[in-house]
Amino acid sequence: MEFDRILKSRRSTRSFDSGPVKEKDLISIIEAARLAPSACNSQTWRFVTVTNREIIKKICSLAMRPVVPNRWLEQAPLVIVGCSQLDVIANRIGSKVTGIEYYQIDLGIAMEHMVLKATELGLGTCWIGWFSENKVKEILKIPKRIKVSAMLAIGYAKDKPAKKRKRKSIDKIVFSEKWGQSFTP
Ligand SMILES: Cc1cc2nc3c(=O)[nH]c(=O)nc-3n(C[C@H](O)[C@H](O)[C@H](O)COP(=O)(O)O)c2cc1C
Repeated sequence: MEFDRILKSRRSTRSFDSGPVKEKDLISIIEAARLAPSACNSQTWRFVTVTNREIIKKICSLAMRPVVPNRWLEQAPLVIVGCSQLDVIANRIGSKVTGIEYYQIDLGIAMEHMVLKATELGLGTCWIGWFSENKVKEILKIPKRIKVSAMLAIGYAKDKPAKKRKRKSIDKIVFSEKWGQSFTP
């Protein structure tokens, strides 16, 4: 699929077919994350793939937060849990000096690579950020020293693609030369 079409056709998918994600597709999705850039090439990301229905149900019933309980997640054939290894020295020192949490940026890039690859493969995805980190760690036996920041639900969309959600116009999000000055390409 042409890159622009991947960007434009991606939508958050919250309704999944029961069909599993093919093994070779899962490997391509992981490979897309593996190729992502990271601060100092520290590759602090770690992932847990979950396809076991009982475990997905457990995540759904025990680890989601109120108000947006993400019940639709129960139907997802694949959940990828995005984790970070925080004890990578280069990353830790860098973050101390600049105050920038590089591991979060690294994980975000890697997981969005996954999203875009999945879109190319005809799969639907949805980011999940509204969960209890401790509960997810408990269910998946993830050690305390590991940070869990996001999850992705991946599978074949059941319904027609969700409505395109609006984006702010360029002039609202980009300035030229200095903050507040209108963008001129
Ligand atoms: C970091 C992050 C966390 C998100 N968490 C959730 C979530 O917990 N539940 C959910 O239904 N959607 C979640 N989303 C999806 C957003 O709601 C969605 O991307 C946004 O509304 C734009 O819609 P679109 O993805 O269809 O373009 C999350 C997205 C991101 C990037």
